[in-house]
Amino acid sequence: MNILIVGNGGREHALAWKIAQSPRADRVFVAPGNAGTDLDGENVPIEATDIPALLRFAQENDVRLTVVGPEAPLAAGLVDAFEAAGLRAFGPRRNAAELEASKVFCKDLLRQADVPSAEYHTFVNPDDAIKFLKDREDVPVVVKADGLAAGKGVVVCENRDEAIAAADLIAGQKIFGDAGSRLVIEERLDGQEASVLAVTDGRTIVTLQPAQDHKAAYDGDRGPNTGGMGAYCPTPLVDDAMLHWIEEHVLVPTVHAMKRARRPFRGVLYAGLMLTRQGPKVLEYNVRFGDPECQPLLVRLKTDLVDLLEATVDERLDQLGPLEWDPRPAVCVVMASQGYPGPYTKGLPIRGLVDADEMPQVKVFHAGTTVKNGHVVTAGGRVLNVTALGETIPKAKLNAYRAVKCIRWPGAWCRKDISDKAARVG
Ligand code: AMP
Ligand code: GLY
Repeated sequence: MNILIVGNGGREHALAWKIAQSPRADRVFVAPGNAGTDLDGENVPIEATDIPALLRFAQENDVRLTVVGPEAPLAAGLVDAFEAAGLRAFGPRRNAAELEASKVFCKDLLRQADVPSAEYHTFVNPDDAIKFLKDREDVPVVVKADGLAAGKGVVVCENRDEAIAAADLIAGQKIFGDAGSRLVIEERLDGQEASVLAVTDGRTIVTLQPAQDHKAAYDGDRGPNTGGMGAYCPTPLVDDAMLHWIEEHVLVPTVHAMKRARRPFRGVLYAGLMLTRQGPKVLEYNVRFGDPECQPLLVRLKTDLVDLLEATVDERLDQLGPLEWDPRPAVCVVMASQGYPGPYTKGLPIRGLVDADEMPQVKVFHAGTTVKNGHVVTAGGRVLNVTALGETIPKAKLNAYRAVKCIRWPGAWCRKDISDKAARVG
């Protein structure tokens, strides 16, 4: 069957690469894709949020399954539009994508479902938020814009003054626009972060192996927040016992609460967790594969991804056998443009891609790339996701960084410590 993947990042390249390996896949389209997705599939020049054009393309090209990578088209109702036209699309409907698209909705649902999460208050009026901050003890808090702000709507504050400034920027000056119409102010939690992703059809939950992202720009988790500078899987921070605890106390009650709220959840439920001394607590939910967590997850997944996605869409996940995994861990290093996460130049030619990709146990996923005059050039902040397997996490890390060394463009950089937190466990 023909399959359409929506999005243009490293996650979508990993999805295209994995889906193209399925004997069930005929043509694999990626809209709009990048230079890498055009090698493992066929790029289609339609933006990820242009739902009418995507629908028309799917109808005209006999697409039997559409897989949505990013959150924006899910929150905009892509799955609803496809279903209304009798087409199958993997991902939650608009009313279930609220779990990511509205932090107020998410926090209220977590509270109702009794899922462990930070204490919080919500505000519509910035003055009320500032009064609240002034009236209470000066403790570290996190100020969040309610809506989608491309991962930038969260300010982790050391003290009251920072929190007041953040509340004013988000809800007063509306620097994220309508996303800041409502505010969440929550208790700041301490601990290691981990990502636990599960695939669910609304009834059955298939938990994937735990991963860890690295959101800060620089080594040692310093510097500004980014979309994610690298990830590895599995992470020993979440052992089997903890994973079961998370299924029972986080994932299952969330899926049930969504069903009770008449917003059945189908797709990837991604719990961003803080592993606190009181146990794991949910920082946020995403309603899609994590980027870059998806990359190490998919190089390890042996099960046919099309079978998993189709069983989810058709609500028969209970009939799918257990997932099979490559026992080797995987490490993914993000190579970024000079200046990222701030402003950066695009269009720089990338060298060494083929050499890196041919190294054993290595796969180079493209994120921000395009083709210009027959050459692969940079086209984004996060440019490449160099992903490698290895017998152990340190060996996978070594393989990934060896491949990184082959690749060059002016100003290319990456974190040097991806997966080191795994070594500090135990
Ligand atoms: P979110 O988009 O809600 O995941 O927030 C982005 C990042 O902000 C998270 O990955 C954490 O590093 C940080 N963060 C969010 N909420 C909290 C919290 N309650 N305590 C500490 N850090 C947080
Ligand atoms: N890895 C973080 C995200 O996908 O939001």
